[in-house]
Amino acid sequence: MSAGLAFADSGTGPALVLLHAFPFDRHFWDGVTPRLKDNFRVIAPDLLGFGETASTAQWSIEDQGEAVSALLTSLGLQSAMVLGLSMGGYVALALAVHCPTQVASLILADTKAAPDAPKARAGREEALALVSSQGVSAFADGMVAKLLSPHAHQDVQRSTRQLMNQPQHTILTALKALRDRPDRRPDLPSVTAPCLVLGGAFDTISPPSEGREIAAALPNAKFVEIADAGHLTNLEAPEAFAQIVTEFSRARATTRA
Ligand code: MLT
Repeated sequence: MSAGLAFADSGTGPALVLLHAFPFDRHFWDGVTPRLKDNFRVIAPDLLGFGETASTAQWSIEDQGEAVSALLTSLGLQSAMVLGLSMGGYVALALAVHCPTQVASLILADTKAAPDAPKARAGREEALALVSSQGVSAFADGMVAKLLSPHAHQDVQRSTRQLMNQPQHTILTALKALRDRPDRRPDLPSVTAPCLVLGGAFDTISPPSEGREIAAALPNAKFVEIADAGHLTNLEAPEAFAQIVTEFSRARATTRA
């Protein structure tokens, strides 16, 4: 996978890399970046195939991790604080497992370590068929409600939907990569970087119980729940999200200094 990742780079301070969820791109972070960039150098890539990182190859979650590793190297960063939400969390964990020295600390938001169960795999097949036959819009329209809490404001629903504009081949490729991602649970005890696991109280895709299990299996982690938010905690509760991330990451950066 040779394509370099397009990315946004703003703010000053210790580097904090933000890895977006599916099916989004770096603009997924537009609501929290202004709240983070006074304290951190915020680097937000478009993962392979998303946003301005065009790719027609069939990539895997491991390939995405390699691409993030290459981005850090190209920026001359020996290590960075890495935050991944949902699919971004799968990528962050792949990076932490394969390139541990590049991950100074880890924030895993609304994500899973377990692979797709049979029901979830069947859901991927249905989604693949829907995207192939009816296109991205039909898929994205049906997905918004699952990503947000039942009481998400209409404006948040609308802006979330607007962010879900990716090429059809990227959606198809991503669905296969998500379906085929590895079981990370056996790797968790070896991930020694300080870690914060975040979860939205109303997340039905990666429920808080799953986040608690991840935190319990990691040697150096704690779990924090964000009230009043579903799966996309950064979009539904940007202020709380940025505050929790800032507190954790500032403490980690101070410890390293
Ligand atoms: C995401 O938000 O990135 C997706 O829900 C991940 C997934 O479908 O496994």
